[in-house]
Amino acid sequence: MIKKIEVALRRQPYSIYVGENALADLPRLIRKTQIGTDAVLITTRNLVSLHGKKLMGCLHKSCDSVLPLVIPDSEKSKSAKVALGLIEKITKFDIKKKLFLVAFGGGVVGDLAGFIAAIYKRGVPYIQIPSTLLAQIDSSIGGKTAVDTAFGKNLVGVFYQPRFVLADTNLLKTLPQDQIKAGLSEAVKYAVIKDAAFFDFFKKNIKEIKALDTSRLNKVILKCAGLKARIVALDEFDKKGVRIILNFGHTFGHAIEAASRYKISHGQAVAIGMVAACKLSLKLGLLNEKTAREITQLLCAIGLPTRVKNIKPGMVLAALKHDKKFLQGKNRFVLIEKIGKTKIVENIPEKLLREIIAELIWVGKPLTLREG
Ligand SMILES: NC(=O)c1ccc[n+]([C@@H]2O[C@H](COP(=O)([O-])OP(=O)(O)OC[C@H]3O[C@@H](n4cnc5c(N)ncnc54)[C@H](O)[C@@H]3O)[C@@H](O)[C@H]2O)c1
Ligand SMILES: [Zn+2]
Repeated sequence: MIKKIEVALRRQPYSIYVGENALADLPRLIRKTQIGTDAVLITTRNLVSLHGKKLMGCLHKSCDSVLPLVIPDSEKSKSAKVALGLIEKITKFDIKKKLFLVAFGGGVVGDLAGFIAAIYKRGVPYIQIPSTLLAQIDSSIGGKTAVDTAFGKNLVGVFYQPRFVLADTNLLKTLPQDQIKAGLSEAVKYAVIKDAAFFDFFKKNIKEIKALDTSRLNKVILKCAGLKARIVALDEFDKKGVRIILNFGHTFGHAIEAASRYKISHGQAVAIGMVAACKLSLKLGLLNEKTAREITQLLCAIGLPTRVKNIKPGMVLAALKHDKKFLQGKNRFVLIEKIGKTKIVENIPEKLLREIIAELIWVGKPLTLREG
């Protein structure tokens, strides 16, 4: 059964549809929302070979014409050059059309297609059909669109909301385990920052969730998408200090990702970043040891790392100083007091940051769960 979550934005509210085989509802939703009659499908090679036929079938049922635009499966596709190249093709197609864009893929496709939808003709409608766990619970919701530049990720972007999000959980069956773990890393983040009962559910059902047990995984997706929708609705443009809590684990995480020259994946870096945020919360007397241990153990149980090797502490510190969320030179961290309760703390002394970073880096044999 398909469940609906509302993103209650004042100007243009929209729905997130979640469920097994939700794709079957696509033709009906396109007609119902009257979004357009001519679809530009932006997707990747991988998605075309795995699920392309089904999606094209759904689009042809409800559209007069469909232009498929296929990009390579890589973060490198999230660039201004690729965006402008696609816009040229869209412009040639867009003659006497009622056009809309369809982002079908993970966060890379979603961010890029959303960005193109925002800037082409100063905005055309688009929909998100996320195909990774991360995209279903996070990147497809909230309207943050962007491309990367040589100077950093997501440096050029704009807020631009989709008309609806359709998360077909069947798509996740072809997703590699590493991508599942990366999505679960973000799911742990939601539980920790917002929902103690969800955290307990997560702990108790982690084996089944990892094995993609349908009902439990659907519950995780619905929970996370619902939490993100609520947070976004309170702070659409990330200006009121509400959305910042979604950055839990990301300040250290981004620094670790950058210091590893992106050899460590985002999901792994965020897991280590959450451990770092717990350590900092502990050292500041905000959090108790038991809770910090529970969070670390959950990450271990998912198969995520809780420390990092072969990385220079100085590089992590240097990368940390470039964080986009720091205000006027003041560092700023999302910390936790207990599961479900965050606290924003500024101006952490560099000495303390060095201590935390040193604790994150290990040499020698791999960690066991207890050591994590
Ligand atoms: N806009 C936001 O709010 C937001 C939030 C978080 C992350 N992001 C962005 O999202 C991007 C990361 O997204 P991602 O983790 O989804 O990675 P991704 O888009 O690179 O996808 C990961 C891989 O999974 C493959 N894949 C996708 N769906 C599949 C499926 N159903 N079966 C098999 N393989 C599949 C893709 O081909 C790709 O190789 C980053 O660029 C990040 O900056 C944006
Ligand atoms: Zn993230």
